[in-house]
Amino acid sequence: MGPPAQLPDLPPAIDLETPRVLKALAAASRSLAELKGRAAAIPNQGILIDTLALQEAKASSEIENIVTTQDELFRASLYPETSYVPAVREVARYRKTLRLGYERLQKTQGLITNNLLIDLCRRLLARGDGFRTIPGTVLMNEATGETVHVPPQDGNEVIARMTALERFINEDESCRLDPLIKMALIHYQFESIHPFHDGNGRVGRILNLLYLTRAGLLDIPILYHSRYIIRTRADYYRLLRAVRDHGAWEDWVLYMLEAVTETAAATLRIVEEMRGQMAYMKQRLRDELPKLYSQDLLNSLFLHPYTRIDFIKRDLKVTRPTAAKYLNTLAEHGFVEKRRAGRNNYYVNVELVKLFLIESGDDQWALTRPFCITTSRHWRRCCVSSRWKACGSMPPLPKTWRPWGLGIESCEDRRSLS
Ligand SMILES: Nc1ncnc2c1ncn2[C@@H]1O[C@H](COP(=O)(O)OP(=O)(O)O)[C@@H](O)[C@H]1O
Ligand SMILES: [Mg+2]
Repeated sequence: MGPPAQLPDLPPAIDLETPRVLKALAAASRSLAELKGRAAAIPNQGILIDTLALQEAKASSEIENIVTTQDELFRASLYPETSYVPAVREVARYRKTLRLGYERLQKTQGLITNNLLIDLCRRLLARGDGFRTIPGTVLMNEATGETVHVPPQDGNEVIARMTALERFINEDESCRLDPLIKMALIHYQFESIHPFHDGNGRVGRILNLLYLTRAGLLDIPILYHSRYIIRTRADYYRLLRAVRDHGAWEDWVLYMLEAVTETAAATLRIVEEMRGQMAYMKQRLRDELPKLYSQDLLNSLFLHPYTRIDFIKRDLKVTRPTAAKYLNTLAEHGFVEKRRAGRNNYYVNVELVKLFLIESGDDQWALTRPFCITTSRHWRRCCVSSRWKACGSMPPLPKTWRPWGLGIESCEDRRSLS
């Protein structure tokens, strides 16, 4: 283990507002502002917050090699208290940690203290320790065994560095850089101090989200860039190193800005698609099952992509037999798909799950079964090419197109609803 790396003081003493950064900043800000505006307009924000947090929990954990499948995750959410898969339990803890961070931020009017970060790490790891006090932590490339970063070893140095970072995060007047640029600096610094024995990557990514909320760039916690990091993992590590080795701040800031731009656009697609799906299901429920329809039922089916009788019973405050009747009727009419696990049935909102499979990229079905989804904004994604295209540029879907026996027949159907 070599000597600890030199850590910079923030902000670094160079001009960060280069033409390239300013251009990327404009794009990121635009993208984020659009997401913020749209998300503010949707009803039932709780549904969005919860479902996206679960997706982020999965992705952020995956960066740290804690891997679950969507199916495992959703099935675990049916019986959260009894899952035996360790990765599922870790992901569930991550989601609770995200929620804790957001709730605490609201109570403290946006103050992000070191105590908060320590509490997040404790919740995440289900362990009681705080900042590192014992030397010996180094970051290694797992494949080659090579040391990639030696963080401060002395406990007092860790505390001093984290105290300075806490000030940088919370004292807005002391640095006039745009909050998105500041977020990139904070993430670098936090990961380089590496204040915890474990969990630094995941807590650092929660910190990004809390910082954006604190800075007023988001109202609700829905911008999660772990999926982007997974896709560009080699760059993420390489660019972190390049800041330390060559002071390559500009490339690092550009990387983080691009992460924001792309992630905001992807999240916007999810927001819009979910909104379209809810409008579509609402219309169908009213037409086909008017006696069953209620807003609570609709919300419940979107809050729990995998659901069971007890959830409906609880969310709609009905008896168990009524809840069972509701779900079975919904399954008969193709609103949900009934599946069996052991002696129990559960019910899947297939369209919604499909959306998450596509967006999260671990979409085994799409590789073998080409299909398209449409959104209320008239975008269509061809899963074979994995690209979004404007509807107009694609051939019309056949009238009988029903990807899952449930889906939308053609764009025209959707257009009339939006
Ligand atoms: N060269 C580097 N310099 C600073 N931080 C790094 C570097 N390489 C990786 N990291 C950070 O370290 C994180 C992994 O640290 P770790 O404490 O194991 O987090 P977790 O438990 O969430 O996996 C990575 O996600 C990344 O953010
Ligand atoms: Mg780890």
